[in-house]
Amino acid sequence: MFRNMIKENAPDSAEQTTHFGFRTVDKASKQGMVRNVFDSVAKKYDVMNDVMSGGLHRLWKEDMIRTLRPEAGMNLLDVAGGTGDIAFRFLEAAHKRRGDDSATHSEAAKVTVCDINAQMLDVGRDRAIDRGILKNIDWVCGNAESLAFPSSSFEAYTIAFGIRNVTNVDKALAEAYRILKPGGRFLCLEFSKLDMPFLDKIYDAYSFHLLPRFGEMITGDRESYQYLVESIRQFPPQEKFKDMIEEAGFKRVTYRNMTGGIVALHSGWKI
Ligand SMILES: C[S@@+](CC[C@H](N)C(=O)[O-])C[C@H]1O[C@@H](n2cnc3c(N)ncnc32)[C@H](O)[C@@H]1O
Repeated sequence: MFRNMIKENAPDSAEQTTHFGFRTVDKASKQGMVRNVFDSVAKKYDVMNDVMSGGLHRLWKEDMIRTLRPEAGMNLLDVAGGTGDIAFRFLEAAHKRRGDDSATHSEAAKVTVCDINAQMLDVGRDRAIDRGILKNIDWVCGNAESLAFPSSSFEAYTIAFGIRNVTNVDKALAEAYRILKPGGRFLCLEFSKLDMPFLDKIYDAYSFHLLPRFGEMITGDRESYQYLVESIRQFPPQEKFKDMIEEAGFKRVTYRNMTGGIVALHSGWKI
């Protein structure tokens, strides 16, 4: 079992509506709708990732982990961690480095996978058992907007393909800042805006026509993949998202596009 640490969100006095893909919905209902999407696709989520990205998601995630430079003793919180892809890569990379540096006999790296969706975590735990990863990993059901962890308790925070699903992105960023120790690093991997104009039309045709069909064929759920495509178009472009990260208090905020801006990796530091 994983720990259930979902906290009630404080009522939000600001804007009461938001987007769910291209639809405008009440803020109060978005989280439940997102949860339905991932309940529906959880069992086929990993296969679909490979199919829809042609395996590219593996390279993007490996790049994120290389940027993080996992090391012995590092305590990572991977939010919206789903089925554990980032966590497994983190532990493997930290283990390799520790092996190279065994003379120091330093403490092992640790990761907490936090996700709002119990079914995604269940799949993740089964994958961890299959891989024999039973130590140094913790599975927690929780909301990125109100994390049940003490302030200044992690060296690093990652979120991969998760933040665009969050209702109040500003709250999630504030929570990321709160739980990081001074000197801690924030990394966010997310679909972004293409920086190669000639790719636009091909990407749109693929996303709006082929991808929902693949979703239907593999998971039996076309709508969830329609939501995925639409949610990517609603997420702020690279520069705007960089501003939001800075507004949350992070310093030395930078980003790097991957695959022509299909994905961007944003980085910030709590200094
Ligand atoms: C596209 S999946 C990404 C999973 C994983 N990080 C990966 O890269 O394979 C998005 C995940 O975000 C989770 N999620 C959505 N809203 C969330 C929230 N408010 N707090 C925590 N997790 C959330 C979903 O349950 C889902 O597992």
